[in-house]
Amino acid sequence: MHNKLPKHIVRLLAALVFFLLVAYIAKTWLTDPSFYKYGHYRADAVPELASGTPLFRGSAYCKTCHDEPRRDTSLGAHISVECEVCHGTNREHPDDGKMLIPTDTIRLCSTCHEEMPARPDRQPQIVLAEHPSTEEANAQCITCHNPHSPADDPVMGLPDETESVAVSSTTLPAAVSKCAKCHGKQGQGKKKNPALAGMESVDFIEHMTKFKSGGGESKKMTKYAKRLSNEEIVELANYYQSLPAPPSEKPPE
Ligand code: HEC
Ligand code: HEC
Ligand code: HEC
Ligand code: HEC
Ligand code: HEC
Repeated sequence: MHNKLPKHIVRLLAALVFFLLVAYIAKTWLTDPSFYKYGHYRADAVPELASGTPLFRGSAYCKTCHDEPRRDTSLGAHISVECEVCHGTNREHPDDGKMLIPTDTIRLCSTCHEEMPARPDRQPQIVLAEHPSTEEANAQCITCHNPHSPADDPVMGLPDETESVAVSSTTLPAAVSKCAKCHGKQGQGKKKNPALAGMESVDFIEHMTKFKSGGGESKKMTKYAKRLSNEEIVELANYYQSLPAPPSEKPPE
């Protein structure tokens, strides 16, 4: 009888075996079949996450329909701020849903512009209680700023799309002489250098802004674009839009 384990030890062992058994069954039954396929995670989770539809569509999509905000943002300080940052997302728009139009711009704009020590200097910052002056500090930001082009608006110089501007030789922008070498005297294009004549001003500005930031295939264009001020770009945009497009040119995208 001395070999027999004490009762409380037997109970303890039995409880241990029971819990081990339950744990084993639970593990085999409840673990997803794809769990150990690649590692210590559920392999099926990866395609599941990837199959979702992205909430954001990006500004390029919005700009296909909304000409005015496109024109306003193309040279303005907010060119890098995506439409959906301010307007929210709604994949049903425009067929079946409206986009939000922000009304509380004090709250919206201060998320990026309120002065904070950690913010980089190149992001313009204001002290809310003092901007623009203590009396006017509670006014909505859009009473003074165009949300799409908040700087002193260089795009205001763009002609209306319906309006044709007559450009005489006296108003010929000075920078044109530098462009003629490659793009032709009348902007008609030369060899591999694309035509500029008749290009819609907003397209021209978007190209130039892209070149300025180092985008585009031509290193030379980046060099030329970087030397131009916003005002000069608008001048050139107006000028080239006013020239007749060469007959062979494909319609602008
Ligand atoms: C296929 C064309 C099309 C695209 C693409 C499009 N919109 Fe619109 N949008 C419209 C039309 C048409 C209206 C006017 C009808 C309406 O109010 O729903 C409109 C209205 C709006 C309005 C005003 C809503 C109101 O209540 O007055 C905002 C803001 C807006 N769009 C933002 C956006 C943003 C941001 C995007 C990109 C995510 C976008 N739109 C993409 C066609 C488009
Ligand atoms: C910094 C925030 C901000 C960004 C970025 C922005 N918007 Fe707006 N947008 C606003 C505000 C604020 C209003 C309301 C203006 C008002 O009430 O006068 C507005 C108004 C609009 C309207 C309707 C009013 C009108 O002008 O008829 C449309 C359409 C619109 N935005 C489209 C766009 C598109 C397209 C883009 C991207 C190219 C864009 N917005 C980027 C803040 C923004
Ligand atoms: C998502 C962040 C963001 C939001 C939201 C935003 N801005 Fe800006 N804003 C910027 C950035 C970034 C710049 C600077 C761009 C640059 O100079 O490269 C800027 C520039 C500006 C400037 C300076 C223009 C200049 O060159 O002097 C003003 C004014 C301005 N924003 C006003 C507003 C107003 C008004 C709103 C609300 C309708 C707003 N911003 C919302 C990011 C934002
Ligand atoms: C009563 C008109 C008015 C209102 C309202 C207003 N601003 Fe301004 N804002 C100005 C003027 C004028 C300037 C240019 C002079 C200056 O720098 O103070 C300016 C400049 C700015 C600048 C550029 C500062 C810099 O250092 O380059 C930013 C950013 C700005 N405002 C953001 C805002 C935001 C965000 C709001 C809303 C909370 C707002 N503003 C409301 C008139 C206004
Ligand atoms: C040394 C030759 C050269 C000079 C000088 C030059 N360009 Fe260009 N430009 C090119 C080439 C090559 C491309 C095509 C590059 C690309 O698509 O990325 C181009 C493309 C462009 C485009 C885009 C056109 C399109 O349809 O894609 C614009 C706008 C433009 N240039 C404007 C100008 C202006 C304005 C000047 C004068 C300030 C100028 N270029 C001077 C060679 C030149």
